[in-house]
Amino acid sequence: MQSRKENNILLVGFMGAGKSSIGIQLALNQKKRFVDTDEEITNDCKLAISAMFSKRGEEEFRRWESRILKRLASQKGMILATGGGIVLRKENRILLRKMGIIIWLDATEDILFKRATRSKERPILQGKSPRKKFNSLLAFRRSLYQEVADLYIDSSSLNHEETMRQIIGAIAGWRPSPHHISH
Ligand code: S3P
Repeated sequence: MQSRKENNILLVGFMGAGKSSIGIQLALNQKKRFVDTDEEITNDCKLAISAMFSKRGEEEFRRWESRILKRLASQKGMILATGGGIVLRKENRILLRKMGIIIWLDATEDILFKRATRSKERPILQGKSPRKKFNSLLAFRRSLYQEVADLYIDSSSLNHEETMRQIIGAIAGWRPSPHHISH
């Protein structure tokens, strides 16, 4: 178990939580490699995430997401930023738990929505009443983030640098404990 602490740090959380931006800073600070599951999918498929959704559909995207995660599962020394929906599949949750220390990055609903809608690259938020969809997805997924996470950071009132410092502090005090996942 101790090796989990020394190897990978995985960032999970909803859209707008700052997983990628904070992950990049954290990787620089910790001198680890930064990997982003969305970026891996984009590189493999030669398609932007929004194009992937519109041309191939969400199910195909989710298949790629799981494939990428399996490929990354044996790698060490990385900061991994994951897509907000990675926790939807049980197989992903089980794998994530084995891969490293999992940080759930969160913020208030309003702040997450504000941050998430800054980018047009979020197909989940296209269409009618994005706010309603956002809120219901967030409410549903929060229990899944909680299920996998070792540590929780609320970044609502923190900038990237402060969030990164909180993560580093939380990891320093983290000790492995038996963690249960429903099978
Ligand atoms: C998704 C979140 C996105 C991306 C895709 C689907 C989701 O990643 O994987 O658009 O279902 O929440 P971010 O959480 O980095 O925005």
